Formats: sequence, structure tokens, C-alpha cells
Amino acid sequence: MCGIIGIASSKLVAQNIIHSLKKLEYRGYDSAGIATIVDNEIHEKKCTGRVDNLEKLLFKNPSKGSLGIGHVRWATHGIPSQLNAHPHSSDEVSVVHNGIIENSTLLKKNLEEKGYKFKSQTDTEVITFLLTDFLKSYDLVDAINKTLKALNGSFALGILFKKYSNIVVGARRGSPLAVGYGPEENYLGSDSYALKSMTNKITYLDDGDVCILTNNKIEFYNSENKKINKKILTLSEDKQFTDKGDYKDFMSKEINEQNITAKTCVKEYVDQLRKDINLYNFPINPKDIEKIVLIGCGTAYHSCITAKYWFEELTNIPIEIDIASEFRYRKINFNNKNLYVFVSQSGETADTYAALDLCKKNNVKTCSIINVVESSIARSSDFVLPIHAGPEIGVASTKAFIGQMLVLFILAIKISEIRKEINKTDYENKIDDLQKLPDLIKDTINYCQDNTPIIAKDFIKAKGSMFLGRGLSFPIALEGALKLKELSYLHAEGYPAGEMKHGPLALIEEGLPVVILAPKDRYFEKTISNMQEVIARGGKVILITDEDNKIISENVRFTLKIAKTNEYLSPFLMTIPLQLLAYHVAALKNCDIDKPRNLAKSVTVE
Ligand code: F6R
Repeated sequence: MCGIIGIASSKLVAQNIIHSLKKLEYRGYDSAGIATIVDNEIHEKKCTGRVDNLEKLLFKNPSKGSLGIGHVRWATHGIPSQLNAHPHSSDEVSVVHNGIIENSTLLKKNLEEKGYKFKSQTDTEVITFLLTDFLKSYDLVDAINKTLKALNGSFALGILFKKYSNIVVGARRGSPLAVGYGPEENYLGSDSYALKSMTNKITYLDDGDVCILTNNKIEFYNSENKKINKKILTLSEDKQFTDKGDYKDFMSKEINEQNITAKTCVKEYVDQLRKDINLYNFPINPKDIEKIVLIGCGTAYHSCITAKYWFEELTNIPIEIDIASEFRYRKINFNNKNLYVFVSQSGETADTYAALDLCKKNNVKTCSIINVVESSIARSSDFVLPIHAGPEIGVASTKAFIGQMLVLFILAIKISEIRKEINKTDYENKIDDLQKLPDLIKDTINYCQDNTPIIAKDFIKAKGSMFLGRGLSFPIALEGALKLKELSYLHAEGYPAGEMKHGPLALIEEGLPVVILAPKDRYFEKTISNMQEVIARGGKVILITDEDNKIISENVRFTLKIAKTNEYLSPFLMTIPLQLLAYHVAALKNCDIDKPRNLAKSVTVE
């Protein structure tokens, strides 16, 4: 994780670095720092906490210089502290780093033997001293190359040099890095979002690339040290997504725009006139697919679980789901008749990217379902299906989850149609249902907006909570528990309701909040029986259902009656009360909603 920025200009850069770091805070926010070159000397300022603290520091003691680098940190090696904050500088170089240097212990030992004195506990400082050391015997390009070759692990780097005081250097292996072209200045950034207020002309570095920026020139070198040209992309305008508007935080904005996410996504993929889905150029003919493997992390993984239910219902294709961090290290029997599908909001998640890379090395076909279309995962996949959610800024994923599920559902019905495993009427009915979904989502948001704050109060005092569901509601229970944990720091467990009696039932005691997801589907009666088992043991049940029957609500503390839809679309509506519940619990606890502690939006380390 961590966010890096670099600017080579002819004007003062500190203010723009601060501005861009604020946009990168979603990647890490435990400390921040900046380094600039002034009168051929490196000047570094850093502090713990948010970029606001750094801004205050600069207000009292401004940073001069027309060349600079900045960093927001998500700690990997060493606690969040001023000493561990980036940049890490010697007299000769200053470095900001995103990623992990896996052989840092060994490198550090060698450098210490040479007399280098480390100030921090970070892995990054070895890069600073390696560069410093190589610069004693080599010119700039060779010193950079020798340093990068010595590093194992992943990195995106921004580097300043005392001796070469008109350049900013960027390098990438495993962690993302973008370059921006501005008027009389050029930029480095962990993503294009951070650079957007300065330019819409962007190039993405590929693994192994190095770039050298001055205020009026950018040079690129590949891993073989050959000078290369790179394509310049023009970014689209998406201001409506990156502005909080009247909302208190990005999360409430993003929850509220989920109907728009669904509408855009349906519009992009569904041809209402022809009653068809616009998906072509599959990397494998769907008729020949022997197995689909769905891979993701966290919330994205939960969308993979929902998709397993859809694919199994709609096709005869065997489906496997996998957590990327497990998949990448297992012995996998790859098969080129299988389709490997990667789900990721950011498109930069290190484990998901590594799992995709493993597939590519084994020459199998890959498809990615992503939000950030310029991301590393999108650029490396054979087939890319964007979710069209627009930038998601809140660290806890909400609208991207809805988008991921929707694209997976659309993919499932299209593959089923191509394979002739769904009949025409059923296919067309499902397309009609998709058109209605955005309005149903909107109604559910409005209804739950008013009803969840009161329910949230019960969670504050409780020891923990449980989320239970069967079938398609099971992954949504997992997602509800994850949202509550990450936003409110309260313990929560998600379970298949039928699994309760195999252990978790022991946790139920007087007053424990238990959320029961019970749409009127084929599991309904069984889920309600599980609910009764919870009530009998004193659990405080919050029932979320689309069923009218008042009897089922007896002895239930709260019932949320959401809109009725077809069984297979219920996950979209069931998700919303759970997002809002987590939101309101966190708000009652005064937690930082958009930036929960210890987390980051883009998980670019293992
Ligand atoms: C939870 C959350 C995370 C992400 C996970 C994968 O709210 O946001 O669990 O879903 O880190 O991230 P992406 O989708 O960017 O690969």
C-alpha cells in the first residue's frame, strides 16, 4: 500500500505535493512526508498521522524547491512513527517507496558492515543506502540499475538526488506507478487519481520500467536498461465521483449512488431493444469452458461466492472459488479449457495480481472484473469487464461490491445463453429484471436509511454480533460481518445459518445481536428455524426479509422489510441494510468512516 508522488517543475512544488497526497490517503494514512531539493541540498519533513499534520508542519515552516517527492504510509516494517515515515534520505538521495523489500534484513546487514547507520526500522532505508553506495562508483543510470537488481520483492519508488538536482526518478516492480505530463512540469504518482487535478495525460509504468523526469522531459527505460517510448493516455473526467458533494463522507455518498452504479452497469452491458447482453470476444468459447475459477480478496471474494451460486444455477459448468492469497501458493492443476476470473475494485491488489500472473505463466485464459480500467490487473488480463462504478474513495468497498456482483451475474446469464443452458424466455425475463434493479436498490437505500440508525445502538454495547444466511444470503452475511468489523472495530462473524449448530451456536447469549438474512427463497423456512434457535437462546434478532408474514417477526427485536425481487437478485438488496448498519454503528462510535484504522484502499503488498 502507501502512496507516492513526485513532481519535477520550475515552480514551487510543496503545495501540489500536499494536495496530491491527500488524494492518496486512501492508500495509507499512518504517517506522511515530503522531500524537496533546495540549493542542491535535500530537505525532508515528516510526521505521524494524516497529511493534514504535514500540511500544518509546512504552514509553520514552508518547504521550498521546485523538485520534490511525497509519501503517505501504511506501515509494513516498523511502527507508524516519525522516524519510520518516508522519505528516507541520506546526504545524497531521498526515497519514497510503496511495496515490500523481502531481502531487506540481509541488505541492511551488508550495508551496516560498510558503515551505514540506519535510523528507521523500515525496509525502505536499504534502498536509500544502496543507491548512495552505488553512486560512489557508478553514474546515475548504472547506480539505479544495480540498486534495483539487488532488491527482492515489490516496489514503486520516487527518488531525488542531491547531485542530479533537476530530476525525479521513478521505478516500478510489482507496485503501480503512473507518470503525468503537465505544462512545464511532470509528475509521478501511485495512481492517476492523485495526478488528475494537475493533468489528464498519463502513462503507466510496466514492471521493470524506470523513468527520469525533468520539468520538460520524461525518459523511460525498460528492465534491460533500453530506452523505450510509452503510450500517453488521456483520462476521462469523473468529477462527480471524486467530490463528496453534500455528503458527510465518501462512504455514505457511495452507498447512496449504488442505484447509479447498477444503472450504468446495466446500460453498458444490456441491450434492452434486442433483449440481449453485449458480451463478445470471450478468450475461450463459452461452449468449451470446462471449469470457471473465481478469485478475489475480501469483499471481492464475497462477490465470487455469490457468483458461484449463480453460475451453478444457470450453467452446467463446475465452479471453484478461491482467495487470491491462497490460490497463488497452492499446487494448481492448470487447464487451458478453464476460465480464470479475477475480481478486484482497485485492480492493484498484490495477491490478486500475483494469482493472475501465475495463470498467465501457465498459459491459461484470464478475465478480470475490475473498477479501475487502467489498473495492472486490467492491463494484464485477456478479457476485461469493467464494473463502471466510478472511483470508490471510501476504504470499505460498497458500490464496487454491487458492481462486481452485477457483472458476475450478467456474465453468468450470457455464458448460460451461449451454451444454451437457459431458455429464451428465462433469459429475456432476467434481462427485464436487471432493468428494474436500479430502482429497487434506490427504494431499499431510502427505506434502510431511516431504519438502520436505531438498530445500530444495540451493537455498541454488545460483545460481538453474528450475521446468518443461507444460499445467496450466505456470502452477504459474510460481507455484512466484514463491513461491521472494518468500520466499527467490533467483532462480528458471518456464517451459513445451517452451520450454527456445528459450533457457533455456543456464542449465542442473552442480548447478542444476530442479523438474520431471510429473503423468501427456497431456504426461507430453514433460515427462520435457525432464527428461532437463536431467539430461544436469548439472541437479539434483526430480521431482514422481503416476506410480509407478521408471525415470523414475533420475538424479533427489529424487522427490516425490504423490497421483493426475484430470488437470484436478493443479494443486491440484502447488502444495503448491512452496509448502512455498519455505517451507523461506526458513526455512533465516532470511527473514521472513510479511513478505518490499519486499513488501506489499495492493498499492494502481500
Ligand atoms: C472491504 C474491502 C476489502 C477489499 C479487498 C480487495 O470493504 O474493501 O476487503 O475488497 O482488499 O480489494 P480489491 O477489490 O481492490 O482487489
